[in-house]
Amino acid sequence: MKQQTKAQAGAKATSPNPAEPELYTFFRDTVRDLYWAENHLVKTLPKMIASASSEVLKKALAKHLSETEGHVNRLEKIFEELGEKAIAKKCDAMEGLAKEGESVIETTPKGTRARDTGIIFAAQKVEHYEIASYTGAHLLASTLGFNNVATLLQKTQTEEQRTDKLLSEMATSILMGKSKKA
Ligand SMILES: [Fe+2]
Repeated sequence: MKQQTKAQAGAKATSPNPAEPELYTFFRDTVRDLYWAENHLVKTLPKMIASASSEVLKKALAKHLSETEGHVNRLEKIFEELGEKAIAKKCDAMEGLAKEGESVIETTPKGTRARDTGIIFAAQKVEHYEIASYTGAHLLASTLGFNNVATLLQKTQTEEQRTDKLLSEMATSILMGKSKKA
């Protein structure tokens, strides 16, 4: 028989240390922040894909878009595990990073290496923010004893790291290539 999740059991997750409820609240807010950030990225990535010229880059960003949709679903699973409603808390950092990506697109001509590498670097800044956030969230989940949640957070963190590495390789290959066009 499938084990009941905390949500199904109606139990509300709290910090295992009743003297420190703020640690749980901080963790929950971190997950809410990530939920906003990932949802925002789902809306932002299609413009980056449409603005890129390199087919390899377009494909990599499209793959990351479907992965990001998976990250949203994974966060919903985490809320369920915690017995919390899936609530997004505005992430100012992701909003700023997305704006920066848009400005790179506005200030570089289409079909140039400048545009494509600009998109890659903007995407990597997003990845680095996410890696830092997932690393912190994972540590908090482990500390609070939410082992299933920690495993889910770790999976996403690993995927973000893989994407970051792939983007680095792509930037090198675009910039070290002979063509000045994308
Ligand atoms: Fe993500």
